[in-house]
Amino acid sequence: MAITDATETQAGADVAAVQGAWPFEAKPLSPLMGAEVFGLDAAQPISDATRDAVLDALNRYKVLVLRDQDLTPAAQADFTRCFGELEQHVNREFRGAGVPEVHPVNNLDENDKPARGRNIGNYSWHTDKSYMPLPSLATLLYAVQLPPDGGDTEFADMEAAYAELPEARKQDLQPLRLWHSWERSREKSGSRHATDQEKQDAPPVNHPLVRTHPGTGRKVLYLGNHSSHVDGWPVERGEALIDELQTFATQDQFIYRHTWKPGDMVIWDNRCLLHRAVANFEMDKHVRILNRTVVRGDLPV
Ligand code: OGA
Ligand code: MN
Repeated sequence: MAITDATETQAGADVAAVQGAWPFEAKPLSPLMGAEVFGLDAAQPISDATRDAVLDALNRYKVLVLRDQDLTPAAQADFTRCFGELEQHVNREFRGAGVPEVHPVNNLDENDKPARGRNIGNYSWHTDKSYMPLPSLATLLYAVQLPPDGGDTEFADMEAAYAELPEARKQDLQPLRLWHSWERSREKSGSRHATDQEKQDAPPVNHPLVRTHPGTGRKVLYLGNHSSHVDGWPVERGEALIDELQTFATQDQFIYRHTWKPGDMVIWDNRCLLHRAVANFEMDKHVRILNRTVVRGDLPV
């Protein structure tokens, strides 16, 4: 695949270029995206230079995996705050006890027993909080308790997918805007329906279908399960376009699948990735608990 070859070569060159420039070590996890980060303790305060290096590494690798972390919710919130404003969850059930900006992500039912759980929206491809006027820059997800195996998370590269589209198609897509809706997203994923409060807190917004990543200047597809239809088009025609593009953009060659290890904190770039949880574990038997913080980003342009 041409894409993979090009990325591989560039990854090699970039690693050489930044060696010594970052106050941590970044080891690529796949030719497409992702790097393991060693030598960064998210429980300790970090300097502005380290923060900038993390953002630089995120622009480069899209997914960063900090190994062997030991984080209380408060420490995770403090670390996340270095990168920008934290987002509360629209779903008030998912505002963490004690530290409301830390969202519990798990497969527990009302009685704290393993089940399909309440986070089923996470099993559809999406980019976090695209239904907000200022959607997320990055999400930080920290593994608290993992099933014996499985419970992976997949990431799809919307920059690589866009790059593979024919030039004429890119031109056609350029002017389009998609509506994103918390309410519609919940319906599509089979989650409990949005409450009146939630609809008031997160009314639908529209964003460009093709956005320019503010950190790299590269164009990416911006869609996912929160997107509902194309502005100015009949709803069904827009739904069909979103379906078609998303099916294209989530093919194997655009995906990195993360297999969690205890102590992992994964940081991903919501501006250029779709992601989803993978239901590859026995959900009614094993517990999977993660803590999530979300950094607000810029207006997509
Ligand atoms: C999220 C999310 C995926 C997972 O926390 O935003 O989509 O694998 N999580 O739990
Ligand atoms: Mn998510």
